Amino acid sequence: MRTLLVLLFSALYCGTAVVEKCWTEEEYLAFTRPKPGQLLRQKDLEWYNEERQLLAEKHQIANMHELKYDHGMEKDAKRIKTCEDFKHSYNFRLLDYDMGESSFEYLEFIHGLQEFKEYLHPLQTGFIYCNLTTRCHIAMPIAAEMVNLSYFKAQLFGYRGTFSKFDFQRGPPGSNCTRGKNDKGLCIAPPRSEMETFTKGPETSANKNILSLSSRITCLSAIFIIFNL
Ligand SMILES: *[C@@H]1O[C@H](CO)[C@@H](O)[C@H](O)[C@H]1NC(C)=O
Ligand SMILES: *[C@@H]1O[C@H](CO)[C@@H](O)[C@H](O)[C@H]1NC(C)=O
Ligand SMILES: *[C@@H]1O[C@H](CO)[C@@H](O)[C@H](O)[C@H]1NC(C)=O
Repeated sequence: MRTLLVLLFSALYCGTAVVEKCWTEEEYLAFTRPKPGQLLRQKDLEWYNEERQLLAEKHQIANMHELKYDHGMEKDAKRIKTCEDFKHSYNFRLLDYDMGESSFEYLEFIHGLQEFKEYLHPLQTGFIYCNLTTRCHIAMPIAAEMVNLSYFKAQLFGYRGTFSKFDFQRGPPGSNCTRGKNDKGLCIAPPRSEMETFTKGPETSANKNILSLSSRITCLSAIFIIFNL
């Protein structure tokens, strides 16, 4: 009986990761579909692609790619096991997360004042939306001040972990595509393997596995101690 309880509690307390499951494409479309009486347009995948098209036309970006929902990114999202893991990774970047130097790179490219958002990254082609199992409070530098932001969802863009002004090519929209363009002038997304980068960030996934393993062992030991009292 005691063993059973220990197992039950460890499953409950040691097993929950911050990202456990993401919306399938059908679920995401149903979730973002306008509800009757809704006045404001949702900022969904379709809207992101329209913003990409507008930016490409306004600033003559030749290699702006179309974004597609990719439930296959769920396995990448699941690397976000704790709130400490809630950050850009080597093959995805988060929406509404610290852009670091990227904003300056972007301003330099467009020669204007417009905030860079991850959905404007020309070389991202994959997108997934995931709920968080808990709220993550993260201190973020905004206008030279640290602001404590609260996240309850993760919107991932893949398969690039980096962004710089060199990711933009100048030219008529859709003129720098390897697979041709769609009717909106966005480059048709090549297979993931052609777009993915494996730039290693400060934390490697190997290090992280050791870290999460050790935290799980600590968690299990704590539960064993409690039950043996
Ligand atoms: C995400 O959260 C919403 C609101 O709590 C819920 O309705 C939905 O079923 C969740 N979706 C997934 C895929 O977990
Ligand atoms: C951010 O705010 C939350 C709740 O308001 C608090 O629990 C958390 O400790 C704060 N985190 C930081 C880094 O200030
Ligand atoms: C895109 O433009 C760059 C720079 O001009 C060029 O080197 C590259 O070959 C072009 N790629 C395609 C697919 O047109």
